[in-house]
Amino acid sequence: MKIINARLRGKQPLFTLLIENGLFSQIEAQQGVLTDDLATYDAKGNLCCAPFVEPHIHLDAALTAGEPNWNMSGTLFEGIERWAERKPLLTRQDVEQRVLKTIELLVANGVQYIRTHVDVTDPELVALKAIVDIKQRIKDKIHLQIVAFPQEGIWSYPNGRQLMERALEEGADVIGGIPHFEFTREYGVESMRWVIELAQKTGKLVDVHCDEIDDGAARFLEVLATAALEANLGPRVTASHTTAMHSYNNAYCSKLFRLLKMSKINFVSCPTESIHLQGRFDTYPKRRGITRVKELREAGLNVCFAQDSIQDPWYTLGNGKLLRVLDSGIHSCHMMGYSELQNCLDLITDNGAKTLQVEHEYGIELGKPANLIVLQGGNDVEVLQQQGEVLLSIRHGNVLLERKPAEVVSITQFVDS
Ligand code: FE2
Repeated sequence: MKIINARLRGKQPLFTLLIENGLFSQIEAQQGVLTDDLATYDAKGNLCCAPFVEPHIHLDAALTAGEPNWNMSGTLFEGIERWAERKPLLTRQDVEQRVLKTIELLVANGVQYIRTHVDVTDPELVALKAIVDIKQRIKDKIHLQIVAFPQEGIWSYPNGRQLMERALEEGADVIGGIPHFEFTREYGVESMRWVIELAQKTGKLVDVHCDEIDDGAARFLEVLATAALEANLGPRVTASHTTAMHSYNNAYCSKLFRLLKMSKINFVSCPTESIHLQGRFDTYPKRRGITRVKELREAGLNVCFAQDSIQDPWYTLGNGKLLRVLDSGIHSCHMMGYSELQNCLDLITDNGAKTLQVEHEYGIELGKPANLIVLQGGNDVEVLQQQGEVLLSIRHGNVLLERKPAEVVSITQFVDS
């Protein structure tokens, strides 16, 4: 396969990419625009970049909004109640249909790497078993990581620890947690220590729903980061959400950041979800309820953006478009200075790959698996300005998706010529 007239992130000229045996075998700068009838694909100056990474989504709950009841208040806690009503209705077939449909949506929008949280506070583990099976069936096309996610708590749910361990035995790749939702602070602290010990014992990654609340007193992030540091597991550990950090005072944050830098853990922020669910108990001014993405990045920590939900009890909208999440996130986090815009795609590409620990196979580099997408626009800023569609998605040299850009058929002439 040969791709011509491709732009690459952070590089000036146009490039020709050769793909052989599913790997990048040649990446060469061109002298100007090429015409080559033998080329498989003409990128026409559009950006070829590594595929989008969706590092935090709940596939098991996707496409269930309104079933059986809608979330009327728009709060996270009503979302958990609505989900508790939907959960007993789960069947393997229901999960399979919705998960595959959601993965299709993600693929249609340039995603090739997905980390899904799957609720394991279910004695039958219906959704988990179905998604482990799907992971095997699609493994050549999509990299899917499964988090054993205790939606109703580890310490606060009957047999919570056993369910987590069973989920790992069934095939979950990542250990989850939800300390701020446990009945007591002590339960939350104990659960975090247990999660890290389990990671040491099993060699699994960790990704915790950590302090997803507007309560400035929710301080499980320091517990998770300390446990990760002491176990020397930092880059294998992720703190998702950390929205309480929005409400921490600056003096505490300054002290906390020292620990976070030492720990080297990753952060996932879900800006569309957080700006929708958080701040719900405020009158005015209303907090944005998003973690300190800008400050974490400036401190050298790894942060990525995720969707969290697609049409589920917590979030009625969502369509698989990470560019929409990125656009919303950089607005909400005051990250639209020009230098920030110039590398903003990091937040939905490279940084997500680092969180998922797939860097060894990720990126447009010689000898790496030929996974890439083509986006409308020649660089990060243009891609964001245009908010265009993904034109091409290639996995191991095979086409997952090809799309023609939309054409305007006619437009009113405003000025007589
Ligand atoms: Fe989540």
